[in-house]
Amino acid sequence: MATKNLNTKRSRPLLLVNIGQLLTLRSSSQGPRRGPELKELGIIEDAAVLCHGGKIVSVGKTKDALRDPWVTKNRTRVMEIDCQRHVVLPGFVDSHTHPAFMNPRLVDFERRIAGASYEEIAEAGGGIRASVDAVRRASKTQLAEHVLEALRQMAEQGTTAVEAKSGYGLDVASELKSLEAIREAATQWAGTVVSTLLGAHVVPGEFQRHPEKYVRLVLDQMIPEVANRKLAQFVDVFVERNAFSSEFTELIFSRAQKYGLGLRAHVCQLSETRLRPLLRFSPSSLDHMDFVNEEDLRELAGISTIATLVPGANYFLGLDRFPPARRLIDAGVPVALATDFNPGSSPTPSMPFVQSLACTHMKMSPAEALAAATINGAWALRLQNQKGSLEAGKDADLCLFETKDYREIAYWFASNRCALTVANGIICSAEKFRY
Ligand code: NIG
Ligand code: FE
Repeated sequence: MATKNLNTKRSRPLLLVNIGQLLTLRSSSQGPRRGPELKELGIIEDAAVLCHGGKIVSVGKTKDALRDPWVTKNRTRVMEIDCQRHVVLPGFVDSHTHPAFMNPRLVDFERRIAGASYEEIAEAGGGIRASVDAVRRASKTQLAEHVLEALRQMAEQGTTAVEAKSGYGLDVASELKSLEAIREAATQWAGTVVSTLLGAHVVPGEFQRHPEKYVRLVLDQMIPEVANRKLAQFVDVFVERNAFSSEFTELIFSRAQKYGLGLRAHVCQLSETRLRPLLRFSPSSLDHMDFVNEEDLRELAGISTIATLVPGANYFLGLDRFPPARRLIDAGVPVALATDFNPGSSPTPSMPFVQSLACTHMKMSPAEALAAATINGAWALRLQNQKGSLEAGKDADLCLFETKDYREIAYWFASNRCALTVANGIICSAEKFRY
């Protein structure tokens, strides 16, 4: 994680009081949330949270917080925020995003409206490859500006931790530049950024006839360089027909593991891939999962690999199907929700909108969607000890929604009720909130 370079007048101790519903997401379960545990929000009413030094110091009732001896003694130093009985919860953990791109893909958008599918558009020269030229031409600073703008928009909707992938450079220099741009943007943002090398997003045009040569580049140059320069914590692969086979993915996973990098993959988005060969690497997360096989699903129920569902992509590609959340949850698979923010299939920075889709199209309850967007997102990034719930000792990442009931977060879709976001103890978005 990048060192922060922020002007922190805002890192005074913070005391949030008069919270109508505080969703702590605390739980006695040791692992990621599965089955009925996914509904446990650990709600405290008339609540308060005290944050200091970027960490949560205590969580409890407002009346107790105001009587706390440390608070009484330090009253003038503490910035007190009256939450006016609104809802406060952990900042969202958006565990799957692709922010290192330059332009929207409006031609693809129109082609799809006219009836072409995502795969047909990619075959005709659109798709991921259509984002590559601009990224290769861009300077690191230009790319970093785009990433930072995306991070700011995410924070406005309550997100405080983001996984950010490269994947539109597709040559060694441009993938490294993308990861450096992500690191640069992260130093300007109060939240937490976890970087992922997605060199294996698609085979670039110049290697189309020799995908094995491109995979060699990923194995022998990108992974070692990224690991040695500590430019990413994870390696991702798009496992799909027209992208990378399971066999190539195993090679990439094995090399990444050798270099101490964590693993995640895009799988079962457009067609079924059997997961067993990948599960022996214990990936932190497998994402999309629209076409997950029944036997694989039973295997996932016994391990802590998270199934990260990204319904924004189904929505934006105009698909009738959505990720099979009920099948997964009812089988005991731990699921997370993420935006998949990217220019081709899911140009949304909004975790509340993703929760709304999860409720209306995947039949997750609002409580399940919230846990999937917070604590299980943290698990998907292996940040469960720092993020995803409001408990003493964890990072001071939280957001306030101008609603009286947590179910309204998924209910008021396409309207932003997030009024305050605090990341690592720093107020990073408060445009609609007076304090
Ligand atoms: O998660 N499927 C692969 N990657 C992205 C789409 C990227 C793009 O179309 O630019 C996804 O949907
Ligand atoms: Fe993606």
